[in-house]
Amino acid sequence: MNILIRKGLRKPTAANVIYLIKAGTDLKEASLNEDEVDFVRKQHRLKHKVVELNRYKNLAYVVYGDLLGTREIRLETWRKNGNATQHMIKKAQIERVVIIPINAFKEEVLAFIEGLILGNYQFLKYKGDASKIQNSLSQVDVYMPDIEDADLDYLKVQTEAVCFARDLVNEPDSYLTAEQLSEEIRARGEISGAKVEVLHKSKIESLKMGGLLAVNRGSTNPPTFTIVEWKPENAINEKPYVFVGKGVVYDTGGLSLKPTNFMDTMKCDMAGGAAVAAAIHAIAQAKLPVYVVALIPATDNRPDGNAYAPGDVVIMHDGTTVEVLNTDAEGRMILADALSYAKNYNPELVIDMATLTGSASRAIGTIAMVGMKSKSDQEFDLLKKSGDLVHERIVEFPMWDEYKDMLKSEVADLKNVGGADAGAITAAKFLEHFTDYPYIHLDIAGPAFITKRDSYKPIGGTGVGVRLLFDFIQSKVQ
Ligand code: BES
Ligand code: MN
Ligand code: ZN
Repeated sequence: MNILIRKGLRKPTAANVIYLIKAGTDLKEASLNEDEVDFVRKQHRLKHKVVELNRYKNLAYVVYGDLLGTREIRLETWRKNGNATQHMIKKAQIERVVIIPINAFKEEVLAFIEGLILGNYQFLKYKGDASKIQNSLSQVDVYMPDIEDADLDYLKVQTEAVCFARDLVNEPDSYLTAEQLSEEIRARGEISGAKVEVLHKSKIESLKMGGLLAVNRGSTNPPTFTIVEWKPENAINEKPYVFVGKGVVYDTGGLSLKPTNFMDTMKCDMAGGAAVAAAIHAIAQAKLPVYVVALIPATDNRPDGNAYAPGDVVIMHDGTTVEVLNTDAEGRMILADALSYAKNYNPELVIDMATLTGSASRAIGTIAMVGMKSKSDQEFDLLKKSGDLVHERIVEFPMWDEYKDMLKSEVADLKNVGGADAGAITAAKFLEHFTDYPYIHLDIAGPAFITKRDSYKPIGGTGVGVRLLFDFIQSKVQ
């Protein structure tokens, strides 16, 4: 549900209120009576960060943020507090709240609302009315003179983009085929103002995107290649930032079939595509003066009479020949074609985002993504900073050339798998082969989809990467 966020103009007298404070704050400013102050202090001593006060006609919440710690940690605590408050609001089935910051910086207040809204996300499309427990919150008023309408607009665009990406990831393959994914991205373009072009199978064939076509051979549904462009007249850059996102709408592994329990969550294999699409739409909707392009190659990966097979040699879009030794390493096949296609744009920087390897996920789990860079030291540092700020953190792995030796093939220019070790890195070295520009590869196999709720990230698609890319591009403008 979309929540209406507004700037409150007057301090309300009768409403559900949320006071944002820190340890040691004078609670008198929060218009609490003495008993309430005692109760709140006691609860806080018991380590409760959100204290609920039942005033019968309405409820009040007192929320404690961190006083100490780095800026990044404080912001994340506020997001988590936003989520914790959302849970209490849901229990009480409240629809409207007014936030009154007593002792919190503007960016902390915004982080609190971010957590509140992202925690309020639900994917209910396939739930019958009886099994639906709807979140109730529909309107948030913020009473803080510092906060401007533009801040709230930015927050709205950002959180809606995350929810858009989550919806796409949560949609099963039975609905979200490659063509449907392209259609959803195209429809979103009508809202955002970004230009969307969808290349269909015949065009993909004439472009000789051999990797994408090879992976698609086992499918009854055609592949797509979606191009989203945001090129405002006032752009600060001439050469675009290009995002590339993996759009495998379902990954069975193909003939190198995955074991059943590894396949359960593979509707998430287009999470990179969803994230880059959502991010560029957010950038367009916020009218950021930055020239950005997003490329999303999409298909499912299945075994079939005509499926590509281990031992096959595929001629890629740029002419490189690839010996396929594992059809489950399909992501790099479709991304490679998009990366060589990206050369047409003479890009400032290309960032790809992909649920690429179980290896990345095993190495660092679900709480961060693996990143690697090629000719982009400075941009990588800036991206990492954005990651820390929005708490979509990047752990850097090395891109040493020795790893590329593991991709040597007897019969072709490259083989599509490196071996048992260093899987996330050899995958990145494979992709790097198709680039000649500053490049960053982000493997989101760990954080893209979770099976246990993690604060403001509910079970299922997390929308990871959207806030990262949005903040990164926003940081170019300031
Ligand atoms: N989509 C998977 C990677 C994945 C694993 C994403 C777990 C999300 C969660 C990818 O296509 C894949 O199958 N990778 C293989 C590569 C291997 C065959 C070299 C893997 O990681 O096992
Ligand atoms: Mn795979
Ligand atoms: Zn995959």
